[in-house]
Amino acid sequence: MSADAPAVPGPAGFSCGWLGQRIVFADGALGRLPDEAQRLGASRVLLVASRHAGLADRIVGLLGDGLAGRWDEVRQHVPADLAAGLAERAADLRADLLVSVGGGSALGLAKIAARDTGLPVLAIPTTYAGSEMTPVWGITQGAVKRTGRDLKALPATVIYDPLLLATLPGDLAGCSGMNALAHCAEALYAAQADPLTSLGALEGARLIAGFLPAAVRSPDPLPAAHRAVLWASCLAGRSFGTAGGSLHHSVCHLLGGSAGLPHAQTHAVVLPQVLAFVGQAAGPELARLADAMGTDEAGLAGAVWDLGARVGAPRGLRELGLAQEALPELARALADRGPASPRPVDREAALHLLTQAWRGDRPEPAGRQSAAAGPMTAAELTATVTDRLRATPDPRLREIMTALVRHLHGLVTEVGLSQDEWLAAIRFLTATGQICSDTRQEFILLSDTLGVSMLVDLLAGPGAAGQAGPATESTVLGPFYAAGSPERPYGGSIIERPAGDPAWYTGRVTDTEGNPLGGAVIDVWQNADDMLYSVQSPDAPPGHLRGVFRTRPDGSYAFLGVRPTDYPIPDDGPVGGLLAATGRHPWRPAHIHLIVGAPGHRSVATHIFDAQSRYLDSDAVFAVKPSLVRQFERHEPGDRAQNDTAPAGVPPGAAWYSLCYDFVLEPLAGP
Ligand code: BEZ
Ligand code: FE
Repeated sequence: MSADAPAVPGPAGFSCGWLGQRIVFADGALGRLPDEAQRLGASRVLLVASRHAGLADRIVGLLGDGLAGRWDEVRQHVPADLAAGLAERAADLRADLLVSVGGGSALGLAKIAARDTGLPVLAIPTTYAGSEMTPVWGITQGAVKRTGRDLKALPATVIYDPLLLATLPGDLAGCSGMNALAHCAEALYAAQADPLTSLGALEGARLIAGFLPAAVRSPDPLPAAHRAVLWASCLAGRSFGTAGGSLHHSVCHLLGGSAGLPHAQTHAVVLPQVLAFVGQAAGPELARLADAMGTDEAGLAGAVWDLGARVGAPRGLRELGLAQEALPELARALADRGPASPRPVDREAALHLLTQAWRGDRPEPAGRQSAAAGPMTAAELTATVTDRLRATPDPRLREIMTALVRHLHGLVTEVGLSQDEWLAAIRFLTATGQICSDTRQEFILLSDTLGVSMLVDLLAGPGAAGQAGPATESTVLGPFYAAGSPERPYGGSIIERPAGDPAWYTGRVTDTEGNPLGGAVIDVWQNADDMLYSVQSPDAPPGHLRGVFRTRPDGSYAFLGVRPTDYPIPDDGPVGGLLAATGRHPWRPAHIHLIVGAPGHRSVATHIFDAQSRYLDSDAVFAVKPSLVRQFERHEPGDRAQNDTAPAGVPPGAAWYSLCYDFVLEPLAGP
């Protein structure tokens, strides 16, 4: 290219194969099976599905007369005798299509039968293994697993139905998603990688990093996360199927075939260790993978290990039952295979890699051992600091501090923080501490306005991360809670001086089975119509607008408070300054606070929000959850029938409000 030619974004040149498969991807796509079978000209389907797959019975119903027979013996790693049996059965039945339903094992079997008989395969995956998008077959004879590629093994049609993933158990979903991530990673540096496979691999990795934790935690109802990860697994399989595998897959096939280790779990354990081993030898591709996953190249292997840990994947091969004594023989076998790898693998290197995978420690980039080694890079400095934390005796503290250092260094690096900016940050944190007092907690405000309090709530609260069960949802505690509020009787008032429109709060506290919880404690606090809590008003009686109530034997509670108003969080300090500097308002939607607890049950700190508030969609602290929003009902003084029932404490002739909210508490886990 001449010096002044415009730079054209895109690859300099490449050749690749494309097309050749039909994909049907939709919620409920399983119902399209009869049409898709017909489209392939099939009238005698042999269904390949494990006998444990309840789904197979649904498919039998869907196929009706089109079903010629079922094959329900499925084992991992495709034993050769099983594959031969299936091919024979297909011939006996004069089958014209193999429909495989399930994970990699059912499909692996169908693929070998397709390779050997030429029959087409229609695949319906129920995991994220991605094998349906590849012509790669694998077969195990004795203790040796062989793999190869044959277009006859590539399924003709794939039906992706995200609804089928909703029942995949979390631990399997996690390992299976890590398997898909391995396809993305290897597709980037495998020999046949091309720009299209790289595009798919990077998008797949981005989706897996972003959505796998949610897909693992939310079995039902179907969240978008399953759809995102299933699409990622399709992209991953397609990219890997075209680009081919590399060292990671050689290691996993060896461990699967020779040591009989489970497929997806092995992938999850091995991937971070292979990424650490391959490192910069993979060229710029791992930097692109790191970028797609929201980390940097030095931290990639650690970030992949962290993702595995978050989704419940095992960490080391020892957890899968592999004996340490088996490692030297496996290392010899790996090196002798001469696996494709960006970094050469001799026996010593193979033993090092397998030992790391067996131990399963988090791969950390190597830090500096000596100050005499010249200037440090940013990644080396981070690694040096995290190295220094390795001796932390408390493992959880070590994990948290290591992540804190990594993320703080990542932030400084990402934005290129200047000295002045760093000093401004120090001044801000200093002021945040200095304004704190017994009645003002600016750090809680900071955490709340940055969404950190709600993130902790989301990950740890009842109904964590979208698993909204029947239990009442929690939300932020806020800085205005004070223990020791006055105990008040059923139906008592928390209003100790005029504070706004009276509101009569009633409801019941039950367990998740609907049984009443008598004697449950409800600790309530709210703001007055001057927008302040009593802890904020020096002249307010200390018990004003706060109280502790106990439910009656039928679980019922009642008290008189006021209808809350919208109010701004304290914005005269550093946090208010930060809100203003970032163009944010400080308002919270009107709400009352409650902590509800009963012996043997998990307490919940929550709010009830006023459905009429204009700030429900822009709460300064992100604390609104739809299940906590309620309408106040207004009762006019002139309405005789209602006025007759006005609760004690409502001034004669005054309008008042009522609101009913039932609380549901989860039992604490058994002993
Ligand atoms: C509150 O609702 O009391 C509150 C919560 C977070 C920050 C400020 C106030
Ligand atoms: Fe509040």
